[in-house]
Amino acid sequence: MKIADYKAEFLAHLEAKVQVAEPKNLYQPVQYILDLGGKRLRPILVLMGVSVFEKDYKKGLDAALAVEVFHNFTLLHDDIMDAAPVRRGKATVHEKWDTNTAILSGDAMMIMANQLLESYEGASFKKLMQLFSKTAIEVCEGQQYDMDFETRSDVTIPEYIEMIRLKTSVLVAAALQMGAIIADASESDAQKIYDFGLNLGLAFQLQDDYLDAFGDPKTFGKQVGGDIIENKKTYLYLQALGKGSTAQKERLTRLFSGTVLDTESKVEAVKTIFRETGSDRATKEEIARYTEKAFKVLDSLAIAEKSRSVLRLFGEQLMTRSV
Ligand code: IPE
Ligand code: IPE
Ligand code: MG
Ligand code: MG
Ligand code: MG
Repeated sequence: MKIADYKAEFLAHLEAKVQVAEPKNLYQPVQYILDLGGKRLRPILVLMGVSVFEKDYKKGLDAALAVEVFHNFTLLHDDIMDAAPVRRGKATVHEKWDTNTAILSGDAMMIMANQLLESYEGASFKKLMQLFSKTAIEVCEGQQYDMDFETRSDVTIPEYIEMIRLKTSVLVAAALQMGAIIADASESDAQKIYDFGLNLGLAFQLQDDYLDAFGDPKTFGKQVGGDIIENKKTYLYLQALGKGSTAQKERLTRLFSGTVLDTESKVEAVKTIFRETGSDRATKEEIARYTEKAFKVLDSLAIAEKSRSVLRLFGEQLMTRSV
């Protein structure tokens, strides 16, 4: 099956299962965010995770929906925390409704995600719940580090990598591993496919940081420069500090420490430093490095060659994305 077919199957399942109920102010935002689109990469990974271990991908549909609903819940809260006005080219929930609505609809989505897993039974159910809860807590930990780093000026690159592992990669990895669990794959295969997802997830978040600064505002779907406005300690920023001259470092630190300029000038000034120090290129190289690492792990997995190629293609498409 092609990647686009998994996506279509997932979307049909989403449409059938997610409907607006009462009270409307709780459920309309849920439907709004889930209907805004997005790449649907995590649910596709769940379904592919089932398929590559030679089981019917349909068994993974509820888990795929659980992961996508959970992901969208994190976005509602993340957009409040990052003061983000736009998501997938449309107003964020806290902008369109208000912050309280985004909090509670998000809470409901987190619970809905757990409910969707109730359709599994026995040993699979237990393993899915354990993995899902562990992952959800890790995402909270990563998100807290991300917030803490905004006001810290001594963040290191290893700390940054650990932060993105937690906030982003573990969910990508867990999506694949949930597929493996549903397919009754061996422990060692389940671990390998998790590691593949983890490295892919690191590359994916590095790419997200890159696009946040250098993406095309017409297609990116989020506010370009949002990370710079929020003083996010991204790989771009940390590399610029590592590579820059004393003057560039001082300028960058000053730009990230207060309200020196209006936001538009700040974004432009910071992007210039990213370019001048070559931190943009360094980020691209790091993305390629983690992607290669993911592909090495993939090569060690004992699955059919056609399954390996579809996972590889998925990874390649992810890294050349523009949204
Ligand atoms: C956004 O995730 C949050 C990150 C972890 C970078 P996606 O880029 O997968 O968002 P959608 O679901 O495709 O919109
Ligand atoms: C995403 O981090 C992490 C979670 C949503 C948990 P970002 O804050 O970089 O995601 P975007 O850029 O808003 O999608
Ligand atoms: Mg954000
Ligand atoms: Mg964030
Ligand atoms: Mg981002």
